[in-house]
Order: sequence, then C-alpha cells, then structure tokens
Amino acid sequence: MTRVFSGIKPTGHLTLGNYLGAMRRWAADDQYRSDALFCVVDLHALTVDHDPARVRRLSRQSASLLLLLAAGLDPEQCTVFVQSHVDEHARLSYVLECVATDGEMRRMIQYKEKAAREQRRGGSVRLSLLTYPVLMAADILAYGTDEVPVGDDQTQHVELARDLAVRFNQRYGHTFTVPRATGPAVAARVMNLQDPVSKMGKSDDAGPGIVYLLDEPDVVRKKVMRAVTDSGQDVVYDREERPGLANLLEILAACAGGDPAELAGAYDSYGALKKDTAEAVVEVLRPVQERHRALSADPEYVDGVLREGAERARGMARPTVDAAYRAIGLLAPVDASDR
Ligand code: TRP
Repeated sequence: MTRVFSGIKPTGHLTLGNYLGAMRRWAADDQYRSDALFCVVDLHALTVDHDPARVRRLSRQSASLLLLLAAGLDPEQCTVFVQSHVDEHARLSYVLECVATDGEMRRMIQYKEKAAREQRRGGSVRLSLLTYPVLMAADILAYGTDEVPVGDDQTQHVELARDLAVRFNQRYGHTFTVPRATGPAVAARVMNLQDPVSKMGKSDDAGPGIVYLLDEPDVVRKKVMRAVTDSGQDVVYDREERPGLANLLEILAACAGGDPAELAGAYDSYGALKKDTAEAVVEVLRPVQERHRALSADPEYVDGVLREGAERARGMARPTVDAAYRAIGLLAPVDASDR
C-alpha cells in the first residue's frame, strides 16, 4: 500500500488555505487510499524566533484540528502524531546531515529567503534554519514514504529528500524508499483576500485577508465582503488580470462545487458573488468548527489519539532508522533493548 506522509508546522492558526489546499484532501482521500501519516512538525517551528508557550499551544490545537475535526482525519484510518514525540526524526536527521552537503543546503530557496529576511531585521539566523530540509528529509525517509502531498513551496525540499535517499542507498546499500512530491489534484490555491497575489498562509499572522478555520461565521462574512476586488464591473474569471475576483471564484468553486469560469457567468455583480462565497465558506467551516468544539471538551480522547499515534509512528520508523545506523557504520548496541 502506498505510504503517504505530510507535515504541518505549528507556527500559526490554520486557515481556509490550509484546509482547502491540503487538509480536506488528506481527510477525504489520502487516509483511505493509502497508509498515511500526518505529523505536527513542532521541531520545525523552532528554526526562527519562537515563543515556547505558543508553539506548545499551537501544536495541541493544530493536532486536535488535524484530528477528526478540521479535516475529519480518522485515527482508525491514519496515524496522527507530534514529531517531537518520536525520537527517530532527530536521530535520522543527524545521519542525513552526514550525507547532505553544505552547498546543497545553502542553495535552498526558502532558506535564502528566510535568512535574508531575518538579517534585514537585524536578527541572527539559527543553524537549524539551514539544516531544516535535512530534518524534513528525515521525517519523510524514516517512514519509507512513497508520496509527500505538499504545496509548490516545498517541492525543492522533497527533491532534496529524494537526492539524499538515492545517495545514501548508493553509498551504503539500499535503505530508503525514494519519495516523490504530489501536488493537490485540483489546485485549490487560496490567496489572501486583501492581497490576492500572495498565498493565504498561516504564518503571515493576523490579517483581515486571512480566514481562520475557527473564525466565527460573522467574522468570515466580514472578511469575505471586504475582500479586495479588481476595478471593473463585470464578473469574469481571469487570474492574471483580475486576481481578486479569480480568488473569490476559486474559493466559491472549492467550497460549493463547480468551475470558476462557469460560476463567473452566473453573476453580474461583485456583491452577489461575495455574498454567496461568504455563505459557502461558512457552510464548509461549520462541521469543522462543531467537531472542534466537541474535541476541545474531550482532552482525554485527544491525549489517547496522540499517545497511540506516537507509538504507532515509532514502531514504523525505528526499523528503518536502525537500518540506516547500521548501514552507515555505527556499531549496534550490545543489547538492543538498552537503547
Ligand atoms: N516544511 C513543511 C512546510 O513548511 C512542513 C514539513 C516538515 C513537512 N516536514 C515535512 C511537509 C515532511 C511534508 C513532509 O510546510
């Protein structure tokens, strides 16, 4: 069975973009057709300035969101866990650092961008920001992953994981499955409502252009009604020339079904389109929010899922990571149960 692995960083509140772009498909499709793992990658949240209490809170919140509620991930169907609960990630990451090169790391686009931003702000760049893609490769390779569903901004990192797997296998004997990135089937690329040429990311933090999964219906309506639209009167679907309008049409299509270009023909005013889009978003979020409320009231259940998820993940990762340790030349502990 195909092994799927994806991770979500607890660096901000999850948004409509995370849901339509990724989580919804994990829940509706990936968890049933494959042997899937979904990981709250909290170690990755420590690579830039962070607030420990906030990371802890968001890990739990995004874990419970990932669980059942937000997307409907079912712990009977897939493995949901927190990265730092499974030592194998950090254990494998070090070994992969001995396979990756310094030059390779410095060529990573995301590193260059984030490091430059940090330097402009007069801050220092954490070494873990540079090695981040190696840890991500460890996340993926530890589980014998075949497919990694990620957005465009992560494909370079998945390529690196492929390169490291191939290189390791060539040098030290076949140990890792070579993974590949899989983008979303229908590009539900949700853009910021106030800045429709940038992604509705979760790390941009507060913003009237971002719809959070836990926004109250009235807040959702307000944000959608205030979305930036393009000059012009007619409703047409044109990503290049009318990005604001295109974003609304795509959100409506993703939430209520249909095709953005066809939907455009059904409207003759921006106001009516916004109104329908707002209601469609409210309806998509409603069950997610209801499940979130129920789960928030049941911390023991969530604890159980996290405990079991970590155990299952550990059991899957350990044989591969042990094999990598042996292959690269590390002596096996005398009594394996000592470790
Ligand atoms: N780097 C990814 C992001 O920023 C998160 C991530 C970490 C991840 N490890 C992963 C995604 C492994 C897929 C597989 O979104």
